[in-house]
Amino acid sequence: MADTATGKRVTLRDIARLKRDGEKLVVVTAYDVLFARVVDDAGVDIVLVGDSVGNVVAGLDSTLPVKLDQMIYHGAAVRRGLKRAFLVVDMPFLTYQASIERAILNCGRVLQETGADAVKVEGGSAQMVETVAVLTRTGIPVMAHLGFTPQSVRTLGMRIQGREEGSADRLVSEARALEHAGAFALVLELLPSNVARQITSAVSIPTIGIGAGPDCDGQVLVLPDLLGLNDGFAPKFLKRYANLAATARDAVAKYAAEVRSGEYPDAEHSN
Ligand code: KIV
Repeated sequence: MADTATGKRVTLRDIARLKRDGEKLVVVTAYDVLFARVVDDAGVDIVLVGDSVGNVVAGLDSTLPVKLDQMIYHGAAVRRGLKRAFLVVDMPFLTYQASIERAILNCGRVLQETGADAVKVEGGSAQMVETVAVLTRTGIPVMAHLGFTPQSVRTLGMRIQGREEGSADRLVSEARALEHAGAFALVLELLPSNVARQITSAVSIPTIGIGAGPDCDGQVLVLPDLLGLNDGFAPKFLKRYANLAATARDAVAKYAAEVRSGEYPDAEHSN
């Protein structure tokens, strides 16, 4: 865990140090101020405002329709809830791929308008490596993302990556290129454990796994999934640490029953 004794914000240096010291990085997503406060109080190191907001908040079947203004809205809300954790905001589809100039302007806008510490982009093509290099030189810290990259779901399909002949070697060289370009961390999504292990030992920046086994330098989960708010989603890698959907359903059902019976509001809850 990044040092909290001084109450200081987690920095890029803290994140690099955790890997050097062999300590695990804890990352979760958040999309609003209330859950931002909860995860910050719980002591996570990095909060990611994922474009998974499209799935878990808006009920979309992919992240493709998510817009830059929506990421900025949610990013700024989460910023207001954080005192300590490092804040990363996902760049949505088509806001950084078309040209490096658009990437600089859009990523810069996210930092300016949300107060985020960094942005996240997907992919390891030569063009993406160049984009990461230019963003980093411009002063925009970048988290990269390899393996299953949800913005490519139409071409990749939602399935474990890295199993085809030669793909582990390709992923290792993309990871090295992204590190060399200046990425400060690397999300590895839906990869066999042995491939994630190979990548993790090939780079000196932290790898953060989701469905990529135990050997990454840290783990990330989508908050509503880990809290058990998203009943219908149950991939093998997901561990639910609570069942908030059931708790919330019970609470609302009790409220409804009390309103209908006239039990609520009672004298104690009336002026
Ligand atoms: O959008 C997101 O929540 C993500 C995580 C799954 C890493 O990219």
